[in-house]
Amino acid sequence: MMRSLLLCLAVLSLIPTDACQPDGKARSPMTKSVFGRLPNGREVHEFTLTNRFGLSTQILNYGATVRSLLVPDRNGKLEDVVLGYDSLSEYVDGTAYFGAIVGRYGNRIGKGQFQLDGKQYRLTINDGENHLHGGKTGFNKALWDATVLSDSAEPSLQLQYVSPDGEEGYPGTVTLKVIYTLTENNELRIAYEGVTDRPTVLNPTHHSYFNLSGSFTHPILGHLLMIEADSFTPADKGLIPTGQMMNVTDTPMDFRTPTAIGARIDDSFEQLVLGKGYDHNWILRGGAGRVRKAAELYEPASGRLMTVFTDQPGLQFYSGNFLDGTAKGKNGIAYGHRTGLCLETQAFPDSPNKPQFPSVTLRPGEVYRQTAIYQFSTR
Ligand code: BGC
Repeated sequence: MMRSLLLCLAVLSLIPTDACQPDGKARSPMTKSVFGRLPNGREVHEFTLTNRFGLSTQILNYGATVRSLLVPDRNGKLEDVVLGYDSLSEYVDGTAYFGAIVGRYGNRIGKGQFQLDGKQYRLTINDGENHLHGGKTGFNKALWDATVLSDSAEPSLQLQYVSPDGEEGYPGTVTLKVIYTLTENNELRIAYEGVTDRPTVLNPTHHSYFNLSGSFTHPILGHLLMIEADSFTPADKGLIPTGQMMNVTDTPMDFRTPTAIGARIDDSFEQLVLGKGYDHNWILRGGAGRVRKAAELYEPASGRLMTVFTDQPGLQFYSGNFLDGTAKGKNGIAYGHRTGLCLETQAFPDSPNKPQFPSVTLRPGEVYRQTAIYQFSTR
């Protein structure tokens, strides 16, 4: 005990004081381990990032996946707030996109087709008659190259994926870097940077399913949600936007003040019926290109509050409607209906076919950039 305490004191100049645990052991801001092997024999690694307040996350280089995120409740109790699996094979076989970076196009492209510079492109159809989250083998199924950028008080991991020309039908070789950082402000910050060698479309997003209660056996219906949006993009039965923008006033889509997710989710409002709950894109206030607050999610029993910031024009709020208990997650817990929710920072769905929506075209010489921040505190 004495020895480990002395050891801890010795490394205080390198790591923050609070990184010493009660047992005197220093908590390392970043560790790396082998998570499993892909069917082709390639090794998948898991990186554990920890800040001095105990916030920690396990990130896989498979799918650039956030596998766990331990966050304190109002009494300082650390609990996992994201859905995920225990083993690599479940990620390989899974269809829920737990914690992954999805792309090239996060969300749907109608009929899996679009035109760019007068040329027609056909993408993989993997969701009814549409294309979803980059196709059958999207970025969530790729093995990314990992580089530890900082092993300090703000541990930072870079993941890079080179998506070949023609992958899932998309033109151009795209190189996407995603940097995950655990900040001193108890934030998980995600910075994206992408380039291409031919004109293409790019709209990646992060797909964690959050349940701030610390228990994945309970639905997220009691969480209070606030979204900084006066309107949303209504969609058809395949969840492809109609192209209109609808004001949220006097509808169950109005989250301008914190409202329980379950309060109106089963209303007969047509958009909720079509979405089988919430599965829509909100048009964020304040214009794109500037990082601003997009949403707040609060879980009253634990006191956990998550504030989402983004520079993107839209936010997809998906209330986990397709979770049905068949996916067994960490510790063998079956993820029932609406036991997790996604808040995906992104451009609007089907933008390549909607000239009135903000553009998602990326050309050679341009750099795609996105910042998303999930900040944790308590009330
Ligand atoms: C979509 C849902 C889809 C889910 C797949 C969400 O981003 O909005 O419609 O079922 O991803 O996990």
